[in-house]
Amino acid sequence: MNPIQKEIERRLTFAIISHPDAGKTTITEKLLLFGGAIHTAGAVKSKKNTRKTVSDFMQMEQERGISISTSVMGFEYRGRKINLLDTPGHEDFSEDTYRTLTVVDSALMVIDSVKGVEDRTRKLCEICRMRKTPIITFMNKLDREGRDPMELLDQVEEELGITVCPMSWPVGQGREFKGVYSLYEKRLILFDPHGKQEKENSVQITDLTDPLLDQKVGKSLADKLREDVALLQEVYPPFDRKAYLEGLQTPVFFGSALNNFGVRELLDCFVDIAPPPLPRPLEGGSYVSPFAEKFSGLIFKIHANLDPRHRDRIAFMRVCSGVFERNKTYFHVRSGKTFKTANPTAFMAQDRSIIDEAYPGDIIGIHDTGTFKIGDAITEGEILRFTGIPSFAPQIFKTVVNLDPLKSKQLEKGLDQLTEEGVVQVFTRLNSSQRLVGVVGQLQFDVLQFRLETEYKAQCRFEPTEYTSACWVHCGDKARLEEFIRRHESKLCRDREGRLVFLARNRWTIERTFQEEKGIQYYFTSDYES
Ligand code: G4P
Repeated sequence: MNPIQKEIERRLTFAIISHPDAGKTTITEKLLLFGGAIHTAGAVKSKKNTRKTVSDFMQMEQERGISISTSVMGFEYRGRKINLLDTPGHEDFSEDTYRTLTVVDSALMVIDSVKGVEDRTRKLCEICRMRKTPIITFMNKLDREGRDPMELLDQVEEELGITVCPMSWPVGQGREFKGVYSLYEKRLILFDPHGKQEKENSVQITDLTDPLLDQKVGKSLADKLREDVALLQEVYPPFDRKAYLEGLQTPVFFGSALNNFGVRELLDCFVDIAPPPLPRPLEGGSYVSPFAEKFSGLIFKIHANLDPRHRDRIAFMRVCSGVFERNKTYFHVRSGKTFKTANPTAFMAQDRSIIDEAYPGDIIGIHDTGTFKIGDAITEGEILRFTGIPSFAPQIFKTVVNLDPLKSKQLEKGLDQLTEEGVVQVFTRLNSSQRLVGVVGQLQFDVLQFRLETEYKAQCRFEPTEYTSACWVHCGDKARLEEFIRRHESKLCRDREGRLVFLARNRWTIERTFQEEKGIQYYFTSDYES
């Protein structure tokens, strides 16, 4: 293997998906501690009120304790370069999370064992399944009286539609929690709530009839474990890496992130089985291999004003193929222009540092003066278009009312730039030039308003509309489409890319309208092939 191939193969790029409060921040911190990227617990998050996460870029998210932006944390573990992409916890920023999930190669799903599968886990898992993203599951908070582990596995299979393969199994739960038996390593790892969970707290037990098991956890829990394991072996198929890589099977671990229990086993297995950088899909159905010689990268996030004193933006780019080099001239496919980057940034936990090169799987920040847009491809000159960063149909639509006529330019500019960043979507009506702002969650309006005021000095108000649903409309037959437009003009608008969008009071209206309008296709995400 040549040195570049080696660099690519050692990279693992993933994200954590979970419902808020399941333990994502806690587990992130433990992973960073294992990776030596941080040295003290609490560095990722201190107490809720003064909550500061590594991903806290904006004043607002600190004030409100909500992680709005998606950041990147890189660390090294067992010779692997791991890129962990953080995602916003709050559901109102789910679009940001969806976009992040399009640039990772695998995901870690954290479930609170007391609450079981929750709403947001369901949605995020669905996105992963759509993209066949491999998922490893961590059942967290075993130190609390939670649901029965068998019931949790059933729930994952039934509600998330993915087969499970338990890799470890809890011995007791809550106050009775004694540890986990690693089915993967045939080792019993004992839980010590006051001490560190390290190798001395684990014993090799290859055969569960070994009396050492009774000595360590007591006869009743030992018998229960024997019974459970016999049942598991009957019910669940063995681990199948191919099925995992296709997103069909999820290996499941049990533990307690807060007590740092079961996290190292999880990380070790992740490093063994998770996929290295995968090919990225292009328009037209082909793929770019990470091993392709020429560099290509995909912009999936734009973040403004990391430094409030400057009106700068940072574009987050995933390296898809080849090697990215500092100061080299690259090609921005959409504008057809070339550019150079003197200070590309890598993100290592709390730090940002300038890098000289980056490999497929890496996420780098490049300085942007307003050129880039989400979904843009950067190459060495090739015309490539990546697919897979769709917009999702918003559920709340409001009109924008300018409150300061002298600042209308600032308002327009702010709206334009913040739409490019993906903060909100903006639609222009066909029958007037009125602009509508569309969002998935109400908080996006608060962020928009806050940023328009602080960054663009623009004052505006949002007024409600009757719409709560929308879809993109497409028809290959021009005359047929024109006829449709004539009939529904008052409900039609165009998105930033000029695509036709139909607004409705609810989803039912959409279904009914398009049942009647034969030959017209409609889509709830923007990535349909036109
Ligand atoms: P999130 O990022 O997914 O939203 O979850 P986070 O890690 O912030 O965890 C949510 C709460 O659950 C935190 O408590 C955290 O300490 C707790 N927690 C995480 N893992 C475990 C675990 O294994 N066992 C138990 N018992 N609790 C766990 P909090 O009181 O909301 O915050 P804090 O005051 O502890 O920071």
